[in-house]
Amino acid sequence: MSDKIRAVHVGFGAMGQVITQYMIEKGIEVTGVFNRKSNIGKDLSEITDFGEGIRIRQIDELDEFLKETRPDVCTVSTETLMCDLKGILMSCAENGVNAITIGEEAIYPWNSSPEITAEIDKAARENNCTICGSGYQDIFWGVITSTLAAVVHKAEKIIVYSRYGLNGCGTLIYDYHGCDITVEEFERNFCFCNDMSPEEQDRAVREGTLEPSLMWMMNDWICSKLDLTPVSKKQIIEPVVNDFPVYMEAYGRYVDPGKAAGLKATVTTETEQGVTIESINIGKVDVPGEGGECRWEIIGTPNVKMVMPDPDDIALTCSPLVNRIPALLEAPAGFVTTDRLPEMKLWGNYENLK
Ligand SMILES: NC(=O)c1ccc[n+]([C@@H]2O[C@H](COP(=O)([O-])OP(=O)(O)OC[C@H]3O[C@@H](n4cnc5c(N)ncnc54)[C@H](OP(=O)(O)O)[C@@H]3O)[C@@H](O)[C@H]2O)c1
Repeated sequence: MSDKIRAVHVGFGAMGQVITQYMIEKGIEVTGVFNRKSNIGKDLSEITDFGEGIRIRQIDELDEFLKETRPDVCTVSTETLMCDLKGILMSCAENGVNAITIGEEAIYPWNSSPEITAEIDKAARENNCTICGSGYQDIFWGVITSTLAAVVHKAEKIIVYSRYGLNGCGTLIYDYHGCDITVEEFERNFCFCNDMSPEEQDRAVREGTLEPSLMWMMNDWICSKLDLTPVSKKQIIEPVVNDFPVYMEAYGRYVDPGKAAGLKATVTTETEQGVTIESINIGKVDVPGEGGECRWEIIGTPNVKMVMPDPDDIALTCSPLVNRIPALLEAPAGFVTTDRLPEMKLWGNYENLK
């Protein structure tokens, strides 16, 4: 690793712009930025107020670019699921380039996409680099939850609740949360899993016929971090419906009252040790005046509760990913989930941050 960290970023959308800005502000040299089709050939400074001299390249050039320039890290904010992230992460793994993504499934993909994860893991081990997932859930659904659990004498139930607005992100995330479809469509597309047994759900997720909710991976992350052995896991999906219109910024249109405007997922894991993990996430089109919220509760000896009102979701998605980079560069080779990385720290070029 050179003294100055050299990075490439893939996916210059809503999150990618913040991640790239944070990296530059911390003194990381961003040598290349890649998109699929938008803004190709443009200088970052034509779109943002930073990054002069950095050109947006087409994703097909990524593999060659990694081979030729050997950056220390590739940060990725393109898509959610491992099947969609695979091409980029494999390209990094095969070229020996460490990679970290906010793609949600990558936070703990061993049980939801075992074959893809094992393939990336093998390539990363062979080429001595580390691939992992981070983002908002890394800290707020993972690190803080497990840290709080670690302070009690005995835990019976660990609860994490997270409500967040979708405005400020790109269009993909509205679709992932089932926004702007009728309740009947929502139930058809998302709720069919509610009647399945935990074993049927697990099989369907592994086979790719059921999309895991975001908390599906988090419960496994928490179990791994706390050395708990899951024996069953079940997700229940419900639509969020308002009796007033809400505005989807990235689409530039309203969701009518009575239509689905978001998704609530509840994932419950039972463990061999008798500890239950219940994770609830509600992602919905923002309601003016109502901020997000993160809440944690440990039921045990003693009971513990903590609430974080109005988290800045976008900043707190991007800063954990950037703050994980130094530990990523020192981590063992393979697909290494963040529960296995050393503790993250605030770091950076403090002069630049003044
Ligand atoms: N973990 C977290 O905490 C967290 C939080 C927020 C969002 N996310 C996830 O992060 C991802 C990005 O979110 P966003 O709001 O930034 O979305 P966005 O604004 O739509 O941006 C996505 C960007 O990725 C590019 N892209 C997509 N697929 C690509 C591919 N195969 N190769 C190269 N570039 C590709 C797109 O390029 P084109 O425009 O050229 O297609 C676009 O610039 C989503 O999956 C979202 O769910 C995670």
